[in-house]
Amino acid sequence: MSTIDWKNLSFGYLPTNANVRCYYKDGKWSKPELNNSEYINMHMAATCLHYGQEAFEGLKAYMGKDGKIRLFRVQENAKRMIESARYIQMAPPTEEMFVESVKMAIEANKEFVPPYESGATLYVRPLLIGTSAQVGVKPSADYMFMVFVTPVGPYFKEGFKPVNVIIDRDHDRAAPLGTGHIKVGGNYAASLISLDLCHKQGYSTVLYLDAAEKKYIDECGPANFFAIKGKSYITPKSHSILPSITNMSLMELAKDMGLTVECRKVPVEELSTFVEAGACGTAAVISPIGKIVDPNQNHVYEYSKDGNAGAISTQLYNRLKAIQYGDEADKFGWITIVR
Ligand code: PLP
Ligand code: COI
Repeated sequence: MSTIDWKNLSFGYLPTNANVRCYYKDGKWSKPELNNSEYINMHMAATCLHYGQEAFEGLKAYMGKDGKIRLFRVQENAKRMIESARYIQMAPPTEEMFVESVKMAIEANKEFVPPYESGATLYVRPLLIGTSAQVGVKPSADYMFMVFVTPVGPYFKEGFKPVNVIIDRDHDRAAPLGTGHIKVGGNYAASLISLDLCHKQGYSTVLYLDAAEKKYIDECGPANFFAIKGKSYITPKSHSILPSITNMSLMELAKDMGLTVECRKVPVEELSTFVEAGACGTAAVISPIGKIVDPNQNHVYEYSKDGNAGAISTQLYNRLKAIQYGDEADKFGWITIVR
C-alpha cells in the first residue's frame, strides 16, 4: 500500500480489500461475513431505494505511535444506528454485531489504516438498508447491514484552519419533529441544495437555523456547531440536531478543562458575543470557523482575524486527538483497541 500518498488524501473513496455484510431474514441476523465486491446486488423495489429506509454511521480508526489501531466510542455509533433504525422502522443491528463487524472490516483492511502523524485516518462507514421488494409505503421485511472502510484526509481542505460559513435561511435540512436527530440519508439529500449554493459562493459549509422560527442556531453542515464565550462552551440544543459523538466528547473535555458547558437554544444574535466558533464531528473533527455570513441580514460575524484557530478550540482539538491516537491516557474509557 506504499503507493497511497497519505499526506495528500482528500475525504473521498479509495477501494480496499473487503467489506463486511450481515443479512436480516426471517427475524434473525446472520453472522458478519467478508465480501470482496464493492457492489450490492438488490431488488429494484427495495425499500431503501424508494422510501429511504437507509441509515448510516461514520467513525474513524486511528493508528497510534505504538502501532495499535484504536476506535473512538464505537459503542456510541452502534447505539445511534439502533436509534436511527428504530425510528424509520428498520430491524436494528445488535450492538455486538455492529462492533464485531467494524473490527472485522478494519482487520481485513489493516494496511489501509494511515500511518501515525500522516494526518489521514481510516474512515469506517456502517450502513443499514431495507432490501425487500415493497411498492406500498411499508417497512421492508429484510435488511442488510454492512461496513466498509476507506482511508481519508481532512473533510474541509483547510484542515485545522478556520473555514467560512454561510447561514441559509431559504432551506432546511430537517423538520422540527422530523428526522434530524437520527442519521438517515434523507437528511443529507435535503442538505445538498444548500451545500451546492454555499460552495458556489466560496463557503465551506452552511449554518442552518431552526426550521420553525429561524431564530436559533441548528446544524453546521454535516457537523454540530459550538462556540466559546468567556469560560463557557456553548452548543445548540434542538430535536433536529444529530447528537454528535464528537460534540458529546468535547463537552466532557471542556468540563475537564474547567469550562462551563451550556447545551441550550442559541439565538442567532448571540453569534456576535462569541469569541471562538467551530464545527465538530467525526469527519470535521474540529473545524474552527473564521467567519459566519448572514446574507439576508447583511451581517458578518468574525472569529479569526489572524487566520488561526482560537486558543480554547486548539486545546480541545489537541486533547481530542491525543486521546484518539493514544498519546494521552484514556481516562474516560472511550477507546477500543482493534489490534
Ligand atoms: N451532524 C451531522 C448532520 C452529521 O452528519 C455528523 C456526522 O456524523 C455530525 C453532526 C457529527 O456527529 P459525530 O461527531 O458523531 O460524527
Ligand atoms: C461524519 O462526520 O462521520 C459524517 O458522517 C459526516 C459526513 C461525511 C456525512
